[in-house]
Amino acid sequence: MGPVLTLDDLDFTSHSEGQTRRLGERLGALLQPGDVICLQGPLGSGKTRFVQGIARGLRVAGIISSPSYTIVNEYRAPNGIVLYHIDFYRLDESSFPGFDPEQCIGGAGVAVIEWPERGARFIPPENLWLKFRHVDESKRGILMSAHGERYRELLRAFRRSAFGI
Ligand SMILES: Nc1ncnc2c1ncn2[C@@H]1O[C@H](COP(=O)(O)OP(=O)(O)OP(=O)(O)O)[C@@H](O)[C@H]1O
Ligand SMILES: [Mg+2]
Repeated sequence: MGPVLTLDDLDFTSHSEGQTRRLGERLGALLQPGDVICLQGPLGSGKTRFVQGIARGLRVAGIISSPSYTIVNEYRAPNGIVLYHIDFYRLDESSFPGFDPEQCIGGAGVAVIEWPERGARFIPPENLWLKFRHVDESKRGILMSAHGERYRELLRAFRRSAFGI
């Protein structure tokens, strides 16, 4: 089945790790400073693979891995856009004195956030929210929901870029 869409939602299946990266790359190429992208889903559902694609779409060089022992990793694209890769998985277990949510989320850079539900207090109401789910060993369902006009526009642009519809 192809992607299912409504005005504010887009639901599709990624059939491989590589496809998840390529879809992330399509989204990454469309991102602008201030954008907030939330990636919710269980362990191993493909969130970091998708972030690796986003980084590629932004032309960020280097290896993107989960910021497991910090909250945020920061990367700079050649055009000057800063990518904040945030992971709230351990937010409640430790304190992270260097972490400045105001700077990283909805500020001058792009914020991409794993486990956003654990840091809900830091997430602005307008965002693009992705829910990842396991379908089988190599397939992942991804539901994208736009909250706010910027993200409806972004979702439409992503849909055109990724699926041609
Ligand atoms: N269609 C797919 N898309 C993405 N990853 C897939 C897919 N099929 C299998 N995989 C595998 O699933 C795993 C996804 O790992 P990834 O680190 O992206 O998960 P995650 O959601 O970030 O987990 P965590 O919550 O631990 O950070 C990888 O081992 C990858 O090879
Ligand atoms: Mg991860």
